[in-house]
Amino acid sequence: MIQLIRGFKDILPGEVELWQKIEQTASALFEDFGFKEIRIPIMEHTELFARSIGEDTDIVEKEMYTFMDRGGDMLTLRPEATASVVRAYIQHKLYAQDPVRKFYTIGPMFRRERPQKGRYRQFYQINAEVFGIASPYIDAQLIFMLATLFSRLSVTDIKAHINSLGCPQCRPQFKQALSDLLAAKTEVLCSDCQRRSSRNPMRVLDCKVPSCREAMSDAPSLSDYLCSDCKTHFDMVKKSLDKLKISFEIDKQLVRGLDYYTRTTFELQTGSLGAQSAVAGGGRYDGLIKALGGSDIPGIGFAIGFDRLAEIVSLNRPDIEKKADIFIAALGEKAQEKAFEWSCAFGITGIQAETDMANGSLKSQMKKADRSGADYVLIIGDKELEQGAAVLRNMTTKEQTEILMENVLESVTATVRR
Ligand code: HAM
Repeated sequence: MIQLIRGFKDILPGEVELWQKIEQTASALFEDFGFKEIRIPIMEHTELFARSIGEDTDIVEKEMYTFMDRGGDMLTLRPEATASVVRAYIQHKLYAQDPVRKFYTIGPMFRRERPQKGRYRQFYQINAEVFGIASPYIDAQLIFMLATLFSRLSVTDIKAHINSLGCPQCRPQFKQALSDLLAAKTEVLCSDCQRRSSRNPMRVLDCKVPSCREAMSDAPSLSDYLCSDCKTHFDMVKKSLDKLKISFEIDKQLVRGLDYYTRTTFELQTGSLGAQSAVAGGGRYDGLIKALGGSDIPGIGFAIGFDRLAEIVSLNRPDIEKKADIFIAALGEKAQEKAFEWSCAFGITGIQAETDMANGSLKSQMKKADRSGADYVLIIGDKELEQGAAVLRNMTTKEQTEILMENVLESVTATVRR
C-alpha cells in the first residue's frame, strides 16, 4: 500500500471541523482589523525565496523543495508566504491607490525539515501582512490581534517574546562584534556556520546544531547596538503593548530564521508543544519591498503555525465533528424512495439528513441511526405510507410522535432547529 510522504499528513474528518473553526475565527477577527484575504500560488520562482529569505538561511540552504520544471525553470514549493504576498503587491501595483494595505492568507507551506511532533514537511500557516505603515503602533496592534485570536480560541498558555533586530544603520557594529566572537570559535562551529561566519554572521545565531548553539550562548545581542531611531521605535512598541495589557518578554536571543527582518521581531511561544514552542512568529521587514523591486515601503507581518495551533486548541476541546440532524429509517422500496426524496429536500434547507441506502432491516437501520449521532429518527414503512403519517422518534427520551407525510419537511425542520 502506498503511504503518505514522510512529514506530510492528512487532516481527517473530526479534526477538520476544528481547523474550520480556527480559520473562521481568524478570518473574522482579521477582517475586523481591516485585513483582506489574498490567495497566492504555492509555487514561485526559486529566486524569489532566495532573495527574500536569504541565501545563507537554513530554509534556503537545506529545506526548500526545489526542482527544474520541464521548461527548464527553477521552481520552489513555497516555504513561507511573505515573499509571495510582497511579490503580488508589487506585481499588481496594489499600492497604487494607497500604499497602506493589509492582507491575510491561509494555506500550506513546504520545508524539508526533520519531522517530529509539531514539525512537518507540509504544514499550514495563517499569515497576516501590513504594507505602508512605519509606525510602531502597528507592531503592537499585530501582537494584540494575535493575542486576541489565541484568547478567542481559549488558548492561554502563550507568551509573547519580542526583540529588535535594528536596521541597516545599526547592523554593521553588531555584525563586527559578532564576527570577532565567531573568529575565536571557528573550530566548534558546523561547516555551514563556518561559511556563514564571514558571509552572514547573524545566521549563526539561529543554527540548530547543538555545538553552534553552545558557542553562541554568550553572543552579543543586536538590541544592545540599536541606533537611536530603532531604540525609540522599540520603546514605543513596548509602551503600546503595556497600554494594551499584553504581557511580553524581551528575548534578546530571538533572531528569527529569515534574513528580511528589521526592527521589531516577535514570537508567540507555548509550553504545551514540547520542543516546537513557537506557535506564531513575525516581525518588521522594512527593506523587503524595495529589495524585491518595489518602492521604499515598510512592511510587517506574522505567520501562525496552523498545525501547532490546532494541536493546542484540540488539547482543550473534545472532537467537534458535526452530527447528523436526523436519520431517516425506511423499510420497503416505496419508503426508501420517499426517504431519498426527503434527504435531498432536507439537505438543501440546511438540515443534515442521513439515510440507509442499503435497505437494511429496521434493527440495522436503528443501529446506524445511533452511530450517526442524530437526535431524531424518522421512521417510515408500508404501514406509515398507507396511513399517510411517519413516526418521529426522539433518541434521547425515546418518545415517538406521528407526523403527517405532507408536513414532514416543516415539522422535522421546526423540531430539529428548536
Ligand atoms: P516562521 O517563523 O518561519 O516565519 O514560521 C512561522 C510559524 O510557522 C512558526 O512559528 C511555526 O509555528 C510554523 N512553522 C514553521 N515551520 C514549521 C514546520 N516545519 N512545521 C509546522 N509548523 C511550522 C515565517 O514563515 C514568516 N513568513 C512569518 C512572517 C510573516 N514574518 C513576517 N510576515
